[in-house]
Amino acid sequence: MELPLPLLTLACLFCFATGALDRVGAKPSALFVFGDSYADTGNHNPYIPVLNRPWKLPYGSTWPGEGTGRYSDGKVFTDYFAAFLGLSTPMTYRKVQSTKAYEETMNGINFAYGGSGMFRTFGPLIPKISSQIEQFKDLIQSGFLSKELISSSFVLLVVCGNDYTAYGEQHENDEGIMDFVPNVTSEVDGTLKALYELGVRKFGVTNMAPYGCYPKVTSKNNYNSCDHTQHGRTVLHNKLLTQHILDLKKLFSDLEIMILDLQRAFEVVLHGEFAQDDYINEECNFRKSMSLRPCCDGKCGEKDYLGRHLYTICNSTKEFLFWDNVHPTQAGWEAISKVLFGPSPC
Ligand SMILES: *[C@@H]1O[C@H](CO)[C@@H](O)[C@H](O)[C@H]1NC(C)=O
Ligand SMILES: *[C@@H]1O[C@H](CO)[C@@H](O)[C@H](O)[C@H]1NC(C)=O
Repeated sequence: MELPLPLLTLACLFCFATGALDRVGAKPSALFVFGDSYADTGNHNPYIPVLNRPWKLPYGSTWPGEGTGRYSDGKVFTDYFAAFLGLSTPMTYRKVQSTKAYEETMNGINFAYGGSGMFRTFGPLIPKISSQIEQFKDLIQSGFLSKELISSSFVLLVVCGNDYTAYGEQHENDEGIMDFVPNVTSEVDGTLKALYELGVRKFGVTNMAPYGCYPKVTSKNNYNSCDHTQHGRTVLHNKLLTQHILDLKKLFSDLEIMILDLQRAFEVVLHGEFAQDDYINEECNFRKSMSLRPCCDGKCGEKDYLGRHLYTICNSTKEFLFWDNVHPTQAGWEAISKVLFGPSPC
């Protein structure tokens, strides 16, 4: 079927299967990551009680068997994205801070910090994403990161909605939240421009997962179905983000940027269904849908004063997309990554 041209351009923003890597060019020399808990691989301080939940079991119970600072029972999106680029997971900024010089074995730096957003989210201990960009900028200005390294690197920006959660905590019934969406997406746009100014030319940017499918929402109907009335912010956020990115591509001709369509990937994994002409084919084995129930149900990782767990753990994490209220399991991220990157020709 021939697509009308504008639709084709738009579609290709999203076709991020293996062939897309050819358009990205050679293997990038490093991966720099900014964002929130979907991307954080251990930047929270393990010794500060309000921040160290992902450093303790049951977080990390599937892999590697102890907490790693990741909000999952194992790996998170950064691990899969790095592997897709042919790199090992980049070193966390927390660890890089105690090193003297950049080394190739770091594979880049992960600045992403669980709870972070474009605006202030959950208190002063959580840096905004603009602070992560400042940290990156300081490392460039001090000469720790060379201009050549930056220009041959890839940036992953993961902004999955902490701004909206924080907004919801301050406004009853999320009143006015739809008017707040353009504020968030224009900050994302500003961040991409700032990174471009710093010399980055290759980007992957996630859009937002379907909010109404998060266990924190579906718990209200015993995890039976996604609440489609809650999808508004996701749909608008993703529409505005796509528009910003199309505009950026017009503005900067040497910019290579892809949207990592988490909305669609979550939907495919949850519903186990896909249309014939989609870029998912029958080989991809997503006909069996994953549960809406979180594997770690309740206050995951928390105990009462007698040391009793305030949560239950499922028997088989492989069948669960969600680990806790909002974060995917390792199996979930693996399925999502298969939708986004293959195995070819998915
Ligand atoms: C969103 O941006 C508009 C225009 O700049 C501003 O008036 C409004 O206060 C912002 N909303 C929030 C919640 O920050
Ligand atoms: C896990 O499996 C055991 C034994 O097969 C069963 O009794 C238990 O109810 C299961 N737990 C959950 C949460 O499914």
